[in-house]
Amino acid sequence: MSTLTVIDHPLVKHKLTILRDVATPFPTFRRVLRETTWLLAYETTRHLRVESGTVETPLEEMTAHSLPNPAPCLISILRAGNGLVDGLMDVMPEAAVGHLGLVRNPKTLLPEEYYCKLPSEIEKRQVILADPMLATGGSTIAAIDRLREKGVRNLVFLSLLAAPEGVEALQSAHPDVPIFTGALDRELNEKGYILPGLGDAGDRIYGTE
Ligand code: URA
Repeated sequence: MSTLTVIDHPLVKHKLTILRDVATPFPTFRRVLRETTWLLAYETTRHLRVESGTVETPLEEMTAHSLPNPAPCLISILRAGNGLVDGLMDVMPEAAVGHLGLVRNPKTLLPEEYYCKLPSEIEKRQVILADPMLATGGSTIAAIDRLREKGVRNLVFLSLLAAPEGVEALQSAHPDVPIFTGALDRELNEKGYILPGLGDAGDRIYGTE
């Protein structure tokens, strides 16, 4: 069973309250989401490998550590995933970034891919897959299926909020993928929205309806 880590931190809690508030305008939402992602990134990147090398300080040479080559990779599940990837890129500018677009087929209700652009040598990289809302888990599972097909082995998933239904679905489909989230909410409603949640993450980030 994959691990679920709820990143329990006073600043994450405080910022999540701002993000949940229906009165928060989208420019504030965007900024606070970015700040929250910096805090979530600290835990989510704890497993990353570093390589030893040397660095010359102004005083002497020392052994030091850097991210490996090829660098880790961030994958956004479009479009709301970009809201997390923006913050992850701030703290990991060396990371390569891929994008996966998935849309639910209204007949089958299954996620179908409409866009996929992934970095080279993805099978050698440590991958962080990001989507702010782990709701039913359908698009996350489809995204991981795709990444597995491409040979990705080392993978974690980051969301801002998660519903128990999505966590369960993801854990049973991909028991080896660790899940990181800012909060575990109560449940999904009949339309697949997380309760209490924050509404549609994409709309809240981009000011759309
Ligand atoms: N996607 C969202 O943006 N919000 C939800 O509550 C569920 C899925």
